[in-house]
Amino acid sequence: MNLAAFPLARGWRTGTIAPVKSAPLGFFDSGVGGLTVVRAVQELLPHEDILYLGDTARLPYGSKSPETIRQFADEDTQFLVSRGVKAIVVACNTATAHALPSLREKYRLPIIGVIEPGVDAALENPQVERIGIIATRGTIRSHAYQHALALRRTGLIIHGQATPLLVPLIEENWMDHPATSVVLKEYLDPLVEKGIDTLMLACTHYPLLIPVLRDLLPPEVRLVDSATTCAEHLRRELVRLDLLAAGDHDGTLEVHLTDLSDEFETLARRFLKRAPGRIHRAVLGGHNKVLS
Ligand code: DGL
Repeated sequence: MNLAAFPLARGWRTGTIAPVKSAPLGFFDSGVGGLTVVRAVQELLPHEDILYLGDTARLPYGSKSPETIRQFADEDTQFLVSRGVKAIVVACNTATAHALPSLREKYRLPIIGVIEPGVDAALENPQVERIGIIATRGTIRSHAYQHALALRRTGLIIHGQATPLLVPLIEENWMDHPATSVVLKEYLDPLVEKGIDTLMLACTHYPLLIPVLRDLLPPEVRLVDSATTCAEHLRRELVRLDLLAAGDHDGTLEVHLTDLSDEFETLARRFLKRAPGRIHRAVLGGHNKVLS
C-alpha cells in the first residue's frame, strides 16, 4: 500500500506502517456519549471490531481550555494507537473541534472527526440557508463548525448556541423530564426566532434528545446529528482506503473507561441500546495500561 497516495486532509501522513484491515477501529470520547457513534457504526459496519475509550475520569471536556482538550485528546489517541487500531474516530465534538488538526499532524493513521461528516450532511440539501448549532461551550467557542460551514458554502446564516446543561440532563436520563423541555425551549427559542431550517446536534450525547427535539421544534427544521453522519463517512473512508474488515465474523466491542462506576455502566447501556459487555479500566498519560 502506498501511503503517500493518501491526502493529508483525510488524516494520513506518509509513513511506513500500513494499517491492517482486521485490526479494530479505535474510538474515543470524554465519556460514554461517543457510544452513540459506536452504535451507528455497529449498525452500518457489523463486521468491524471496535475498541472504545471513554475518558470518564476527566469529563467533561466541553468546559475545559483548548490546551487541556488537546492534551487529553493526545493521550486518548496514544492509548488507542498503542493497542494497534487501524483508524481512529474522534467521537467527541469538543475534541474534534480543538484537537483534530494536531492529532492528524502527529499520528500516522487515518483519524476521522465528527465535524466534517456533520457539515457535509447538513449541506447535502442545497436549500439550506439558516443553520443552528447546539454544542458544548468548548465546541461553540472554537468556531470549528461555523468555519467548516462557511468554507463550504458562502451566504449561510449560522447561529451557534452553547447548551452546557444538556449533557448532565441526558446523563440523568431526564430526556422525558419536564425540566429538559424547559431548558431546551430556553436554548432553542432564539434559534427558532431566527428562522433556522437546520439544527446541528454538535455533541455526541445529543442523539438521545432527538424525540424531544422533534416535539419542540417546528416540523420543517431538519436535524443533523454526529452519530449517523460520522458512521456513513467512516464507511466511505474505509472503502476508499481499502480498510474495510472482511465479512467473516461479527464485530466485537471492547469498552475502556478511565473511571469505572455503576452509573457509567448504566449510561453505556443506554447510549449503546445494549449491554456493553465487560468494561475495562484504562490508565492514560504514558502508562497506557488496562487495570482490569
Ligand atoms: N461528548 C462531548 C462532545 O461531543 C460532550 C461531553 C463533554 O463535555 O465532555 O462534545
